[in-house]
Amino acid sequence: MQDLLDRAVSYGKAFIHEGRTASYIPELSKVDPNQLGISVVMADGRTISSGDYSSCFTVQSISKVVAFMLAIIDRGEEYVFSKVGMEATGDAFNSIVKLETAKPSKPLNPMINAGAIAIDSLISGKDPEEKFQRLLGFFRRLCSNDTLWYNELVYASEKETGYRNRALAHFMKDISILEGEVEEVLDLYFRQCSIQVDSRDIAMLGAVLAFDGLSPVTGEVLVPKKIARMVKTFMVTCGMYDGSGEFAIRVGIPAKSGVGGGIMAVVPGNMGIGVFSPALDSRGNSIGGVKALEFLSEKMELSIY
Ligand code: DON
Repeated sequence: MQDLLDRAVSYGKAFIHEGRTASYIPELSKVDPNQLGISVVMADGRTISSGDYSSCFTVQSISKVVAFMLAIIDRGEEYVFSKVGMEATGDAFNSIVKLETAKPSKPLNPMINAGAIAIDSLISGKDPEEKFQRLLGFFRRLCSNDTLWYNELVYASEKETGYRNRALAHFMKDISILEGEVEEVLDLYFRQCSIQVDSRDIAMLGAVLAFDGLSPVTGEVLVPKKIARMVKTFMVTCGMYDGSGEFAIRVGIPAKSGVGGGIMAVVPGNMGIGVFSPALDSRGNSIGGVKALEFLSEKMELSIY
């Protein structure tokens, strides 16, 4: 396994020069693009890693998986799906176009920005701070890491420049999808996206999903099986946005990307994988990360199809 991971890192690194770090969040453009780290958490809870596996990065859209699960736990399936749909968009992660044209008028799924912002308005808590603490606590349990915190520079950078997310949120407030105060919901969203992890943390999150919500370390049920299944299905259809089809063909496992350069991937019943490499392709997915996963999937025959 160690040898395969080492080779996946070398393979993925050869493609980094074809990508760029995210620049629409200014703080993310300062990250060294030449990094690639990978971790795998196995059924017995062991973690095996290679490359820049201890480099920290912000989780960004990978957090949408966690927020979605918490919203379903808090508010129930029926209510959550009255606010967001279950269909892929084929559009960019921050696209605004289908918000008005889709009927009924609601975000198409919880993995795009609009859907994730709507989901954040459903997280329970008496005030914004309690909502964030609940989300962070859930995140920490899923990653088996009590020290997770958010990167205040990245948070401030996105809060300052997040005009498109503001537009999405205001539109959703107008059509009565978004609950509560727009700026409070956005603040929760920006903070959750700025939670700082390394590839081992997201590999652990992937492993919990791989084992249908059960922690491979403690054996504890962290997420009901039905919800774990639902989120893995969303990862297949929308986890890599408008690159989800190509990823399904080339890699063939449920995965969720973030513009920080992370990809959390799940091999059902087998393992969780976390990859980090900050240079992105045109769809906002880590270019070296996708290639490293492609390598591993081919060598280990991981495709679920
Ligand atoms: O809202 C945003 O644009 C970012 N905080 C997250 C987007 C993201 O990670 C898309 N994933 N590839």
